[in-house]
Amino acid sequence: MKIGKTKVNDELDLSKLPQHIAIIMDGNGRWAKKRGLPRKFGHKAGCDNIKKITRNIFDLGIKIVTYFAFSTENWKRPKEEIDEIFNLIRKYVEENTEDFVSDGIKVTFCGKYEELPKDIVDSFKKVQNETKYCSKNVLNFAVNYGGRDEIIRAVNKAIKIGEPVTEQSFAKLLDNGNLVDPDFVIRTSGELRISNFMLYEMAYSEFYFCKTYWPSFGNKELQEALISYQNRNRRFGSIK
Ligand code: FPP
Repeated sequence: MKIGKTKVNDELDLSKLPQHIAIIMDGNGRWAKKRGLPRKFGHKAGCDNIKKITRNIFDLGIKIVTYFAFSTENWKRPKEEIDEIFNLIRKYVEENTEDFVSDGIKVTFCGKYEELPKDIVDSFKKVQNETKYCSKNVLNFAVNYGGRDEIIRAVNKAIKIGEPVTEQSFAKLLDNGNLVDPDFVIRTSGELRISNFMLYEMAYSEFYFCKTYWPSFGNKELQEALISYQNRNRRFGSIK
């Protein structure tokens, strides 16, 4: 069976999909190294993969996807590589804004992206503004994002408001305050850690780790991950 251009695995139950997937796209550098290419080619291939896999994710009926594109710790990388990543994101959102609008895709960002170079910040604000009324899907990018940093900023917002918080009211102060928590988190490339990603939001997420490097993680690998998700028993602390 196909939905749009997405081939669907017979084993996948389309009525049991996560609402929100968060992806730690790891392995771009190793993907490039394996091919004797500079790291930036890995990031370019990773960026091209975002376009393809986002189509698959939304075709299947998943509403929200968050990609971890740049962490508060990634500043330790060479400036050339950092600039390359920001430019790829900027180019990606600029070149696809029209399609986002016509496809009903709302683009959002989380993290301290306002600290990035002005041209990057301007392009992020523009795409957010132009897609703000889109309501079919959400495409969320974590850029200059750290889970601890997000929590600390939310704590400071709460102090300014000056009232005790609840779990629910505190969650609203986070960057993704209007999004449901990720049900499912995928990390590619064989690393088994969460690297300071969405720490508060992932309290009850299901995790999936696979060896494939991000640029090679395609529709087939996505659906294998989703089949694993569907076979989990999410109890949220109950005994069901
Ligand atoms: C991790 O792989 C990847 C990143 C830190 C950057 C991810 C960025 C992109 C895919 C391009 C951004 C484009 C958009 C549209 C968001 P790594 O470099 O740590 O790989 P390695 O562990 O193999 O070295």
